[in-house]
Amino acid sequence: MRLTVLGTLQEALPAVCQERTVIVLDVLRATTNMVTALEAGALSVLPVRHPAEAIGRRREGCLLAGERECVRIEGFDLGNSPLEFREETVAGKHIIMTTTNGTEAVRLTGPEAAAVLVGCLRNATACAETAAGFGRDIVLVCAGTKGHYSFEDGIGAGLIADRLVRLLGGEAEPDDLAVTLMEAWRQTAPRLTERLLACENGRRLTRLGFAEDVRFCATTDATRVVPLLAGSELIAW
Ligand code: MLT
Repeated sequence: MRLTVLGTLQEALPAVCQERTVIVLDVLRATTNMVTALEAGALSVLPVRHPAEAIGRRREGCLLAGERECVRIEGFDLGNSPLEFREETVAGKHIIMTTTNGTEAVRLTGPEAAAVLVGCLRNATACAETAAGFGRDIVLVCAGTKGHYSFEDGIGAGLIADRLVRLLGGEAEPDDLAVTLMEAWRQTAPRLTERLLACENGRRLTRLGFAEDVRFCATTDATRVVPLLAGSELIAW
């Protein structure tokens, strides 16, 4: 089974995702939020491109969530902090979400892939097990930030690739970026929170008062919830 890692969502061309299981990662913070929302009992998460589209799709039983420049969009119910996706707020609700990179990565890979899963550090092992169970080649898509590679997505991809290689043994054929990021994951693991706080997005979020979010996102294997794209919505697998 081939394991391919893409460093940014812009590399997720149709031909690369076609007929494969795609795992999208935007560790700080969009994919962590999708996992957290479904874990807290949200019925679905619909990733959309623009705030106006989210507003246009608002209906009874829906909450609008998302950010631009890391900050809650005016008129939205929730921002992009995982600490906002609490059971008392989101259980039984449909979430419509728009973020700068993470929701775009899910939307982009959806039409071509055989299956799209959402991964982060918090569901890494469950995500690897689900993807391995689908029995297809796997593409890990690091969302990145506005076309640039992001450290935390690479570390998340390295952790999931590491788990996949352990599960699949000799059947796994990781590409060179997967091999590099597995090494990076192993070196980073003992100081994970510190390293996530120190990377570009960690520093930006800390400056904006979201250091607690970074700490939350830096927890590994805290949940078995794996969002799966069903049509245009993510549901808990
Ligand atoms: C994104 O999707 O670009 C991120 O989630 C941005 C953020 O953390 O606010």
